[in-house]
Amino acid sequence: MNESERYALGTRTVRRVGYGAMQLAGPGVFGPPKNRPGALAVLREAVASGVDHIDTSDYYGPHVTNQLIREALHPYPRDLVIVTKLGARRGPDGSWKPALSAEDLKSAVHDNLRNLRVDALEVANLRIMFGAHQPTEGSIEAPLAVLAELQRQGLVRHIGLSNVTAKQVEEGRARAKIVCVQNHYNLAHRHDDGLIDELAAAGIAYVPFFPLGGFTPLQSTALSDVAKALGATPMQVALAWLLQRAPNLLLIPGTSSVEHLRENLTAADLKLPGEAVTKLNQIATGQPKAG
Ligand SMILES: NC(=O)c1ccc[n+]([C@@H]2O[C@H](COP(=O)([O-])OP(=O)(O)OC[C@H]3O[C@@H](n4cnc5c(N)ncnc54)[C@H](OP(=O)(O)O)[C@@H]3O)[C@@H](O)[C@H]2O)c1
Repeated sequence: MNESERYALGTRTVRRVGYGAMQLAGPGVFGPPKNRPGALAVLREAVASGVDHIDTSDYYGPHVTNQLIREALHPYPRDLVIVTKLGARRGPDGSWKPALSAEDLKSAVHDNLRNLRVDALEVANLRIMFGAHQPTEGSIEAPLAVLAELQRQGLVRHIGLSNVTAKQVEEGRARAKIVCVQNHYNLAHRHDDGLIDELAAAGIAYVPFFPLGGFTPLQSTALSDVAKALGATPMQVALAWLLQRAPNLLLIPGTSSVEHLRENLTAADLKLPGEAVTKLNQIATGQPKAG
């Protein structure tokens, strides 16, 4: 992987391409993986290939993904940054419920510490869910104050925000040091274009979730055409497009397959010519757009 391309995440720097562990849990991110040795192999291969940024949460499974990370990788390499998130819990049927009360957040921090077997969480994203799944306006003051207190206690080193509006990012930055924002973004879903530029100017990492489109990976004729012309796969092109979009984008593509993992990591070496970027920029709007 390209060693020169790194970006700050809290007080550490990480490679631009990391790994998102959500896909390692069972179907619907619920229960154990279908292929446990395969899940452990993906994590070990990621770190052996140079990945130093893994995204997780204790509500994946729940507990399953963190326990897999611990089994595969503990004791952790010194340079590995594990980022987790708090703010949701799972119903008995696998449903996703908001969990933003002081009690919820405290127990989520302790669940993460126990299951990852660490003394402190390097980065904890406060994942906002005010009822709806998509970002919804509303003050984040109360849950952020709880997380800031857990940070003062030394249980959380750095705070990030997830699934938030630009206004909530502004509110969060006024109340705490925010080291990253993790929101839904990819070449077909560009709601956060303005926010990304704002955060880049402030030196804050933006971590797109669903970088490949999520549960249904991106499909587009333009994407396939560009990939074919470059001798790459559509997923590699989708990741390379994100890497060139702004320097503060840190990628966490998810996969349960070692083969897909290897494919995704080589996206860091793919350079997109200007005409390819112009073509890809038309996917979201149907119109040429500045990349
Ligand atoms: N903050 C939040 O609210 C939030 C929400 C969602 C996700 N996340 C985080 O973001 C990370 C990334 O999101 P994600 O995993 O949901 O979605 P994603 O990275 O956009 O896509 C994952 C999907 O793409 C497939 N895939 C991966 N590489 C591929 C390849 N090279 N060729 C073909 N298919 C490929 C995977 O299937 P295979 O397993 O078969 O490869 C999986 O179905 C998650 O792991 C999680 O850590 C955060």
